[in-house]
Amino acid sequence: MAPETVVRLRTRSRAATVAVGAALAASLRDGDAVAMDGDLGAGKTAMTEGIARGLAVRGAVSSPTFTLLIDHAAGPRGLALHHFDAYRLADADEFRHLGFDEVLSSGGVTVVEWASRVQGALPAGAVRVELDRRDAEGEDVRFLAVAFPEGREESAAALARAAAGIPDAAPADAEETGGTPRC
Ligand SMILES: Nc1ncnc2c1ncn2[C@@H]1O[C@H](COP(=O)(O)OP(=O)(O)OP(=O)(O)O)[C@@H](O)[C@H]1O
Ligand SMILES: [Mg+2]
Repeated sequence: MAPETVVRLRTRSRAATVAVGAALAASLRDGDAVAMDGDLGAGKTAMTEGIARGLAVRGAVSSPTFTLLIDHAAGPRGLALHHFDAYRLADADEFRHLGFDEVLSSGGVTVVEWASRVQGALPAGAVRVELDRRDAEGEDVRFLAVAFPEGREESAAALARAAAGIPDAAPADAEETGGTPRC
């Protein structure tokens, strides 16, 4: 497993998770994949909404060929957003057969919810996000762990700096976020 840098945060509102997504977008580059995992209602779509906001993409367009994909055309930053939800997929092979590689290689930023279901199809250099909802912590609390691949230490530092200015977001430690996102 490549060395990576993990940013761990706790959010106390949906808006805070959206804001973390927007902050993450500032560090994303053309061709990046963001692999998200977390239970139903953990906040994967909320965070993706933030990424869309941060990239300043245009409105959502359903793909004519890929029902699990919502596309957003590039805005002023020049990066399109391809948003997959792999919840209903059987495995990585099915994902590949449906055309995941073509979408990824078309450029922009590709976000995959339920990434662990299609793990083998995802690139090794993906940014990994694990979202965790703990009942004991209160209804609106989420723990977020964002793991950047080797060479992206500055991206991690930038996210941590930006998160410090987000209301309802705070640093969390490794025990709280439940370890390192799968790579
Ligand atoms: N801190 C928080 N961060 C994100 N969402 C929160 C938070 N607190 C409460 N929520 C609520 O939790 C829900 C998160 O839903 P969301 O659709 O983003 O989750 P998801 O992980 O994409 O779920 P699914 O697996 O069904 O796709 C929303 O109803 C949102 O309002
Ligand atoms: Mg979702």
